[in-house]
Amino acid sequence: KTVRIPDDSLSLAVGADALAAAFVAAGCTVERTSSWGMHWLEPLVEVDGVGYGPATPADVAAILDGSSALNIGAIAEHPFIKPQQRLTFARAGRTRPLSLEDYAATGGWAGLHRARAMSGADVIAEVTQSGLRGRGGAGFPAGIKWQTVANAPGTRKYVVCNADEGDSGTFADRMLMEGDPFQLVEGLAIAAHAVGAQTAYIYTRSEYPHAIAKMRAAIIAARDIIAPLHMEVREGAGAYVCGEETSLLNSIEGKRGVVRAKPPLPALEGLFGCPTVVNNVLTIAAIPHILSEGGAAEYAALGVDRSLGTKPIQLAGNIKHGGLYETAFGITLHDLVYAIGGGTASGRPVKGVQVGGPLGAYLAPDQFDIPFDYEAYARADALIGHGGVTVFDDTADMGKMARFAMAFCAAESCGKCTPCRIGSTRAVEVIDRIRHGGAQAADPLSTMPQMHNARKSARSVDEEIALLEDLCETMKFGSLCALGGFAPYPVLSALKHWPEDFTNGDVQ
Ligand code: NAI
Ligand code: SF4
Repeated sequence: KTVRIPDDSLSLAVGADALAAAFVAAGCTVERTSSWGMHWLEPLVEVDGVGYGPATPADVAAILDGSSALNIGAIAEHPFIKPQQRLTFARAGRTRPLSLEDYAATGGWAGLHRARAMSGADVIAEVTQSGLRGRGGAGFPAGIKWQTVANAPGTRKYVVCNADEGDSGTFADRMLMEGDPFQLVEGLAIAAHAVGAQTAYIYTRSEYPHAIAKMRAAIIAARDIIAPLHMEVREGAGAYVCGEETSLLNSIEGKRGVVRAKPPLPALEGLFGCPTVVNNVLTIAAIPHILSEGGAAEYAALGVDRSLGTKPIQLAGNIKHGGLYETAFGITLHDLVYAIGGGTASGRPVKGVQVGGPLGAYLAPDQFDIPFDYEAYARADALIGHGGVTVFDDTADMGKMARFAMAFCAAESCGKCTPCRIGSTRAVEVIDRIRHGGAQAADPLSTMPQMHNARKSARSVDEEIALLEDLCETMKFGSLCALGGFAPYPVLSALKHWPEDFTNGDVQ
C-alpha cells in the first residue's frame, strides 16, 4: 500500500518521520509530499485520498485496516480545503516537493515556456493585467515595479526574492518553499526574463533550514531548465529588519542589515547599485499561474476593488483549526475565525485578532465584517500585511501585547532613525507608567531602566495616554521604514478597543 505523509518542518516537528518509518515497517511504500495546510491535523496521513490525523506510530495498524477513528474522509472534500481557491498553493498536499515529474505533470514550467516565447514587455503587460500586488504587505503593483526595473538604464539587473518571513504567526513563505520550491524557481525565472536580469537571489533566514535545503536542491535540479539564469539562496541571521527590502539588499551585499533611505528605489538602484526587483515569495509564486494560458484574466477576475486575485491567509494563535487558507480577497474575519477556524482552541470567547504580524493592528469582534482588502483595512487603520491572522481569547491582556509591540520594535530596530530607535524605548516606559497608574515602573525589559526609574512620573494616567498617542503619531509619520512606522498600530488599536487593559492589567 502507498501512503502519503508530508515532510515540511511543521509535520517533522510533530513526528512525521517516526510515523513514516512505522508505515515502512508495516510494509507500506511512503511518499513524502507537501502539507495540505491543515496544521491541527498534522501529521496527516493520506491513504487512497482519505486522510487520518493527527497520527502517531500507534495508529498505523488501525489506519491500514480502515478502522481508525482519525479518519477525516476525503481530504480534497474536507470543509477546510474544498471552499479554498488555491492558485498559489494549488499543489499543496498533492505533489512531492522535489519531484520534477510531479511538477511537470501538474502544469509546471508552462508559464516559463510561454513567457520565454514572449517579449519581456508582453510578460510585464500580463502581470499588470492580472492586478497582482506585492504580497509581502505593502501591496505595490507588481507590474509597475517590474516595468520600472525593465526601463531602468543598465545591463546588469537583479531579481531578489524576499523570503525573510519574520512576522509572528506567518508561515506561507516557508510552506511554499518547502512544499513547492520549483514554483518559486519558475516565478523567478519568469521575472528575470521579463526585466532582463541575469541573476536571482532568494534571501531567507537561517531559522528555515528545511526551506533552504529544498530551495537549494530545487535550483540544482532545475538548473538546465532555467539556464542561463543564475540563481542562489542567501541565508540571513534572522534580524526582523532584514525583511525590509533595503536592509535585505545590504545583507546580501555582506553589509550590516541597516535600512537605506529611499529614494533611490531598489527598482532603480538596488543590489550592488543595479536595478533590482524585490518581491515577496508569494508574489513571485503567483507568477507561473498568471503567465499560463488565460491565467492573468482568471486572476484578475477574483477579489474585490483593487485587491485582486487570491491571498494565502495564515490562521494562527489561539484558534481551533489553524493553517493555510488561500482564497480570493474580500473574505471577512468573521468567516475566517469562526466558520473556517472554528473559534478559539481554548473554547473561550474571541477577544481580538491581530492581522499582519507583530506590527499589525488588533481588530475587535465588531470589526470582523471588514472585507480582506488592502484599502478597506487601511481605512480601518489596520493592515493586511503578509496575511497573518493571530487569534486571542478573552484571557489575553492587550495592554501587555501593546507593550510587547514596542519592546519588539526596540529590540529589532536597526537604529538608523530616531523615532524608532528612541521612540520605541520611550513608549515601553510610558506604557509601564500607564499600567502603574501614572507612577514610575520598575521595568526589567526596558532598555534604559535606571534612567527611567530615577524619576517619578508627574503626569496623570490621562496625560500619559495622550503622551503615548503623540509618540505613536511621531513614530508613524517620522520613521524611515515600516518597523518604526507600524509599531504604533497594535498599540493604538489596543488602546482604542481595550483601554481597561492598560489601566487594570498586571505589570511585568
Ligand atoms: P513601501 O510602500 O515603501 O514599498 C512597497 C514596494 O514598492 C517596495 O518594494 C518599493 O521599493 C516599491 N515601490 C514603491 N514605489 C515604487 C515606484 N514608484 N516604482 C517602483 N517600485 C516602487 O513598503 P515597504 O516598506 O517595502 O514594505 C512595508 C510592508 O512590509 C508593510 O505593509 C508590512 O505589512 C510589510 N511587512 C512584511 C513582513 C513580512 O514578514 N512579510 C514583515 C514586516 C513588514
Ligand atoms: Fe531602522 Fe527603525 Fe528607522 Fe526602520 S524605523 S530605519 S528599523 S531605526
